[in-house]
Amino acid sequence: MAGRIPDAFLDELLARTDIVELIAARVPLKRAGREYTACCPFHNERSPSFTVSPTKQFYHCFGCGAHGTALRFLMEYDRLEFLDAVDELAKRAGLEVPREARAQDRDRGEFDAMLGTTAAAAAFFQHQLALSDRARRYLDRRGVDAEVRARYAIGYAPEGWDALREALGGDPQRLQLLERVGLLSRNDKGRVYDKFRDRVIFPIHDRRGRPIAFGGRVLEKDDGPKYLNSPETPLFHKGRELYGLWQVRQAHAKIAQLVVVEGYMDVVALAQYGVTTAVATLGTATTGDHAELLFRNAGDVVFCFDGDRAGRGAAWKALEAVLPRMRDGRQAFFLFLPDGEDPDSIVRKEGAGGFEQRLKAATPLSEFLFAELSREINLGTLDGKARLAERARPLLAQIPDGAFGDLMKQRLGEITGLAVAAPAPQQPAAAAPRRAPAAPAPRRSLVRSAIALLLHRPALAGEVEPPYPFAGLRQPGVPLLVELLHLARERPGISTGALLEHFQGRPEEAPLQKLAVQELPGDEKLLRLEFADALAQLDRQTVQQRIDELHARVREVGLSGIDEDEKRELRELQRHRGR
Ligand code: UTP
Ligand code: MN
Repeated sequence: MAGRIPDAFLDELLARTDIVELIAARVPLKRAGREYTACCPFHNERSPSFTVSPTKQFYHCFGCGAHGTALRFLMEYDRLEFLDAVDELAKRAGLEVPREARAQDRDRGEFDAMLGTTAAAAAFFQHQLALSDRARRYLDRRGVDAEVRARYAIGYAPEGWDALREALGGDPQRLQLLERVGLLSRNDKGRVYDKFRDRVIFPIHDRRGRPIAFGGRVLEKDDGPKYLNSPETPLFHKGRELYGLWQVRQAHAKIAQLVVVEGYMDVVALAQYGVTTAVATLGTATTGDHAELLFRNAGDVVFCFDGDRAGRGAAWKALEAVLPRMRDGRQAFFLFLPDGEDPDSIVRKEGAGGFEQRLKAATPLSEFLFAELSREINLGTLDGKARLAERARPLLAQIPDGAFGDLMKQRLGEITGLAVAAPAPQQPAAAAPRRAPAAPAPRRSLVRSAIALLLHRPALAGEVEPPYPFAGLRQPGVPLLVELLHLARERPGISTGALLEHFQGRPEEAPLQKLAVQELPGDEKLLRLEFADALAQLDRQTVQQRIDELHARVREVGLSGIDEDEKRELRELQRHRGR
């Protein structure tokens, strides 16, 4: 495990986190016996092979092999860096991450410095808004009140060429940081100046609420572009961020539906009127990453576009981005607004109620898809039907296996009257049991079963005191068993998952994971007896190993060749074994 954060802290963190609660907030889990199951969020599948174990505190997918602790889950699912995932869990658990651990990380230092720069810039812009009557009048005119300004951290970049540079670019290093985060521009002559000038500023927050980029709108129409956006920077990739998502997540513990709009002002105006579930793509078409991010936050997504040609084109792009991600439990809708309107203007005219009515009446993805494909096709003819089927097939093929895909194929069949490939029959391979059978357990070595038992019940380590006689046994797995015993004794109460976390990236990781997911038949008492018995047998084998060793010496040098100590040891060992 990345060594910079002390292992003991990671253990503490995992001990204070409930993996079931963490995952259930993101993936719908169903209880199945002692565990929870779901369709795997890391690969597409029709029947659930993803399991979360509250006792072992880990997840494991029998389909794709994804596995790990709460920490790993956050990294994979929320796409957080290791240190960010640690921070996130620490925040949930109310723990402080040891500081010195972080300062050692150089890249991290660079990254933090950039985040510090964007944070300082956001604060600077907010402060400037307070100083500019003109900018505040503009927001007044657009009906954005103080509360919403604060919630979205809206600011103002003053006129002139170097207000920000003067304020934050005090030395060459800071100047370079400002440039790296996209806040400065450079002309042909190499002169560096503020990118955003005399514009209302909309900071873009990352998934953890830190400003990472900015959008700026002119106050009055002039020749320049209406909106300027930060360029791509190490902090900001516009195809992966959604404006306003942070605020939605702040407002809702669980998000049922997200509304995707086109503009900053649409998000802000909707929030102003009480529609607090809107996010915006940042002047780009909806990407696959956007779609993934949307569905990871909400089961239902409504894409809201102009009703004109450009709007339909953009909606089609969004459809293409979501199709491969339409797993069961996810729904996409399309809302087309009347000509010349955007969500901002609609909500002002119709209020939150009116806008929500429109959301309710939004077009389901299936309907939009077939309507678009049927344009300029005469479905009254056989030829037309064949053409529709031909257009639809490659699209439907992208939908993951599941009920939604089946329905779409069925729908196409209804429209065209043509037989469409029925859902693939369950192949024998798929019907085979998905998890390792509980019994009969494969015959394993004593060391292996001791390790398996200890993994399942780390508390068993408390029942044996070091030094362990068997530690000297020359058999594969013995050092690992000893290591596990030490770890588990050092951290009473450690879970299976947290124990495994210590082996992250080591060759032992995969075999340990395999042992950990197997079901161990038998009740607590039986497992304890088995463990004690396995260790006792190992001890006996160790004694035998020493006896064999001494016998070999005797054969080599004769009984008179070995010293008194060894003779005594041999006698004692033999007596001991006899017991
Ligand atoms: P719109 O032109 O629809 O603007 O652009 P809007 O959101 O309605 O803005 P207001 O109401 O006039 O203030 C939609 C989005 O497209 C991007 C911005 O992200 C904007 O919010 N855009 C637009 C740009 O990036 N640059 C532009 O010049 C215009
Ligand atoms: Mn607008």
